Amino acid sequence: MGRIIAIANQKGGVGKTTTAINLSACLAEQGKKVLVIDLDPQGNTTSGFGLDKEELTNTVYELMLNDCTIRESMYGIENIEGLKIIPSDVNLAGAEIELLGINEKEYILKNDVDYIKDDYDYIIIDCPPSLNMLTINAMTTADSVLVPIQCEYYALEGISQLIHTIDLVQERLNSKLKIDGVVFTMYDSRTNLSSDVVDTVKDNLNAYVYQTIIPRNVRLAEAPSHGLPINIYDGKSAGAESYRNLAKEVISR
Ligand SMILES: Nc1ncnc2c1ncn2[C@@H]1O[C@H](COP(=O)(O)OP(=O)(O)O)[C@@H](O)[C@H]1O
Ligand SMILES: [Mg+2]
Repeated sequence: MGRIIAIANQKGGVGKTTTAINLSACLAEQGKKVLVIDLDPQGNTTSGFGLDKEELTNTVYELMLNDCTIRESMYGIENIEGLKIIPSDVNLAGAEIELLGINEKEYILKNDVDYIKDDYDYIIIDCPPSLNMLTINAMTTADSVLVPIQCEYYALEGISQLIHTIDLVQERLNSKLKIDGVVFTMYDSRTNLSSDVVDTVKDNLNAYVYQTIIPRNVRLAEAPSHGLPINIYDGKSAGAESYRNLAKEVISR
């Protein structure tokens, strides 16, 4: 059976989308069947895989409003075998309001994903930078939550609120939900700050910490503007190596 991992942290700019794109691509490179779901109205995962948002007929918005089936909302990616994406665009920003009053609105995505989840080894969900109904839908769909933590001074800010939300969802909506673990991102080996942050988080957080640490690497920041994941954009970069290692660590757990 496949594993469904939501990538969440309500803080923006911590590396959720970069991790969603590159972990998914590296899992596919390892021969896994992967579905990526972009649940952020900004659609950065969608454009990061080179999809043109203007040309999409269906997105996760149409899916959640029941205007298409889950298979109709999926797109393949050129040159990446075994990977499909359900994209998003800015329309998703209004979904929260449009879903008001709908029965079981916490389970809209889960009820769709249930149809296809056995077709995939991994389903990776990129969450928006907030703890809203979209993130709740990701957490009711997922088996676990992977939390990227940026190696900067305020790294732990908001983490207790995130963990509280995961606990509430686990208690009330999805008893199988777990914290998958935390992944440190944008690690800068030239400063003490990054290693201090890693130590502080390890001391204060009772969660699995991935051994793989993602370095700050300019190739990771450039790749999305070429619509490519890092393993294809620059397969020899430190960023590619780190996300390959993360994929192997995810598989081995
Ligand atoms: N390891 C990294 N090295 C360099 N830049 C990174 C790295 N991870 C993310 N970035 C850049 O930081 C910004 C925020 O990352 P992103 O993945 O979009 O965060 P989030 O989805 O949490 O908002 C983006 O411009 C991205 O390209
Ligand atoms: Mg993002």
